[in-house]
Amino acid sequence: MKKLILICVFGLASLMAADGAALYKKCAVCHGVNGDKVPPGSKATTTINVLTKEKIIEDLKGYKAKTLNQYGAGPLMYAQAAGLSEEDMVALADYIVTLKK
Ligand code: HEC
Repeated sequence: MKKLILICVFGLASLMAADGAALYKKCAVCHGVNGDKVPPGSKATTTINVLTKEKIIEDLKGYKAKTLNQYGAGPLMYAQAAGLSEEDMVALADYIVTLKK
């Protein structure tokens, strides 16, 4: 029985990870496959693969609310974040932190 529960937990965890990776595909165009590129138009000096999970979620919420503009290119992110649910943001953040070098 214990084994079965473990398999379920791992199965779920890998499903969630796959979700974040799938969602990240459209982000990679601007942020790079490894989150190591500064997007075009942004004056940022850091890349998203150095951010904490909390910061990524907070940022995505700010862009979805259209209130965040950190590097003079916020509106480019408003469209990206518009369709994201809170679960999507958490899955993305969980995935992006794994890109950290
Ligand atoms: C069209 C290009 C583009 C795409 C696609 C894009 N972004 Fe961005 N992203 C930007 C730009 C430009 C900024 C800087 C915005 C600003 O000035 O605040 C940014 C900023 C961010 C930040 C804040 C970085 C920091 O240093 O705080 C996060 C987090 C982020 N993007 C995550 C994502 C995620 C997750 C996706 C996919 C759902 C995504 N982005 C898709 C262009 C893009």
